Amino acid sequence: MGNVVIYDSGVGGLTIWEAVRRQCPTLHTVFVSDNQAFPYGTKSDGELLDRIHRVVRSIAQSCAPDVLVVACNTASTVALPSLRAEFDFPIVGVVPAIKPAAAVTKTGKIALLATPATVQRAYTQQLITEFAHNIDVLKIGSSRLVELAEAKLRGAKVSDADLVPILSPIDNHSEIDVIVLACTHFPLLADEITRYFHARDRSITLVDSADAIARRVASLDVSSDSEIGQAMAVFTQQLNSDALRNGLIDLGFNDIKVLDVD
Ligand code: DGL
Repeated sequence: MGNVVIYDSGVGGLTIWEAVRRQCPTLHTVFVSDNQAFPYGTKSDGELLDRIHRVVRSIAQSCAPDVLVVACNTASTVALPSLRAEFDFPIVGVVPAIKPAAAVTKTGKIALLATPATVQRAYTQQLITEFAHNIDVLKIGSSRLVELAEAKLRGAKVSDADLVPILSPIDNHSEIDVIVLACTHFPLLADEITRYFHARDRSITLVDSADAIARRVASLDVSSDSEIGQAMAVFTQQLNSDALRNGLIDLGFNDIKVLDVD
């Protein structure tokens, strides 16, 4: 009882997992990373829909979710309606935080940093039309930033020079004062991104969805049979990084397993 499954292609879902864990400490959490099919952000919609449904079928069979959080903007913006049609448990999606960003900007100019797939999605455009019609939105799609976040959790350093090719389009738009981190991997690089702009004398507010998602999970009132929830991490293929394995143990994961996807 009290099982929240938090699913992403890679380690980005940990940013959502941490927020859920903080706000709902009694719930059991299962963090699922589809590392076998990582990355999602460069795949076609059809390929992704097929993969995501197969992963969620395996999750439904093996993890008995009370709630599933699709902790991936790339997956949520393509698959939420079809997942909700197939599965009976509540599904919480993570989509670009355009609305809060539009509320925070003072200049009316924001950047949207996401995967190449997410920036192209009709769902993303719909959020912009609905919540930011009077705001200038610079869209940047980067799968390199996803790789850098994965590398950081495997022990690599991410330097200013790594970020230049990705963030320099924002250098040319000095009025941008808010960046939407519309990929769950990107908050893992919040310090590096903040440092990049400080070094250029700019103060930029980073907005992501993690706390709002955790509040949504808390509002679902899932009952728990325990005072402190267990945390399990599940990968769709064997984890090949000791640094990441040790990082997961430090975060409080007491069980790390492999999930077969048919
Ligand atoms: N973390 C995922 C997201 O929020 C994408 C990472 C990937 O490209 O696999 O969009």
